[in-house]
Amino acid sequence: MFIESFKVESPNVKYTDNEIHSVYDYETTEVVHENNNGTYQWIVKPKTVKYDFKTDTRVPKLGVMLVGWGGNNGSTLTAGVIANKEGISWATKDKVQQANYFGSLTQASSIRVGSFNGEEIYAPFKSLLPMVNPDDVVFGGWDISDMNLADAMARAKVLDIDLQKQLRPYMENIVPLPGIYDPDFIAANQGSRANNVINGTKKEQVDHIIKDMREFKEKNNVDRVVVLWTANTERYSNVVVGLNDTMENLMQSVDRDEAEISPSTLYAIACVLEGIPFINGSPQNTFVPGLIDLAIKNNVLIGGDDFKSGQTKMKSVLVDFLVGAGIKPTSIVSYNHLGNNDGMNLSAPQTFRSKEISKSNVVDDMVASNGILFEPGEHPDHVVVIKYVPYVADSKRAMDEYTSEIFMGGKNTIVMHNTCEDSLLAAPIILDLVLLAELSTRIQFKSEGEGKFHSFHPVATILSYLTKAPLVPPGTPVVNALSKQRAMLENIFRACVGLAPENNMIMEYK
Ligand code: NAI
Repeated sequence: MFIESFKVESPNVKYTDNEIHSVYDYETTEVVHENNNGTYQWIVKPKTVKYDFKTDTRVPKLGVMLVGWGGNNGSTLTAGVIANKEGISWATKDKVQQANYFGSLTQASSIRVGSFNGEEIYAPFKSLLPMVNPDDVVFGGWDISDMNLADAMARAKVLDIDLQKQLRPYMENIVPLPGIYDPDFIAANQGSRANNVINGTKKEQVDHIIKDMREFKEKNNVDRVVVLWTANTERYSNVVVGLNDTMENLMQSVDRDEAEISPSTLYAIACVLEGIPFINGSPQNTFVPGLIDLAIKNNVLIGGDDFKSGQTKMKSVLVDFLVGAGIKPTSIVSYNHLGNNDGMNLSAPQTFRSKEISKSNVVDDMVASNGILFEPGEHPDHVVVIKYVPYVADSKRAMDEYTSEIFMGGKNTIVMHNTCEDSLLAAPIILDLVLLAELSTRIQFKSEGEGKFHSFHPVATILSYLTKAPLVPPGTPVVNALSKQRAMLENIFRACVGLAPENNMIMEYK
């Protein structure tokens, strides 16, 4: 049975006008390597840590500014939200289609809340904690191309034509703000698009972005702003001691107009200085060490990198399944071809390299988790190929071959072919990223012994379900397995309303 909403009744949970306060037992383990009369032994000790969670339930009016607003993802997301908000339906060759948020974890997935009369009860994921309704988000942003969003939507060739016709009046007067353009960081083939750019030194460009964000906030009367990079993939920036390794060096490099500071890092600096969360949806290393340092010192949320939409999402499910089943993946080969502007940009070796790096580490945690299958340091062969084929436009093809060793030396090969509009996968993920980033800034917690409530670490690991190469604070394990990432997110939100983690034991029926 599906219910729309629920309230938790527990001595550990208090709902006030502005807050949900939960006192929570976090069940975990402590692992120690103990010397027992000369022999070392691994000892695992269950331990319970008391946490207090405090969630501000006042949902702000949210503004979202996209870098690369006029791109396929930016225009598709904007169109999708307008279509939902206006309740637009359109004729396809199959049926009359209603606008929806399919593909969004927050808007279209559910959680199990318990059982009632022997029946499992589910509720929307978004009913766990008060969240911004995507229909109420005010969009804005920048693009180095001055094309209005209606034309950008047509250029993207993603949405059905009848829908495009209905959306045109809403979008034809929206023109992105000029963006920071540096031809050294994206493919040369993007040059002809760049007719809407902010001139000046890097310091002036940062100041310009800050001014844009302040004006956007004021003009639209929004309480909070989140900025998300969905612009072209940049090449990696060189990380150099003295240049971008610390906050001070990074800020001095901006003042000196150093060439190696990328546009994405400049936007991110502007956001951190303004206390605005910044999420990177592309693979490049926007978050150079100096920027991470800046975000930590200013306690401003940063999250990334690279939307986990198609092939990598499947990989982080399939390899988790194989390794979890005791099957040894030995060769993973991924081919992609796509014909959109992202594909054209990725046809340059430097930008492709960013994508290749981002896609390559995704199975590491799963492989490292099983020492029966893999020797320490052993990895499956893992190759990623991306080719630009204009004709297929946004309809990306991802073909994967997984070869594994099975029982008694046998081999098993699984081949997968995944076809669909890339932007229809990415747009709901962008929505989730900004909604979850906003929500996570309203959660505070403390563990027993900690005197004061504090927010999550500024490097937002909580968003890792949505990213290919999750950015984590130094010294934190990276989790790529999709089911673990989802469970982390769901269980933290459950903790905020005093619900135990979903353990799937279903003891009631045993
Ligand atoms: P796109 O090429 O259609 O859009 C990018 C937009 O950014 C363009 O309109 C371009 O003019 C603009 N732009 C470039 N540099 C800029 C700058 N410095 N400032 C402001 N605007 C700038 O690409 P698409 O398909 O929308 O993808 C966007 C990004 O998302 C790409 O980096 C892609 O790799 C990444 N991504 C996309 C996924 C998907 O499924 N669609 C999945 C994972 C990542």
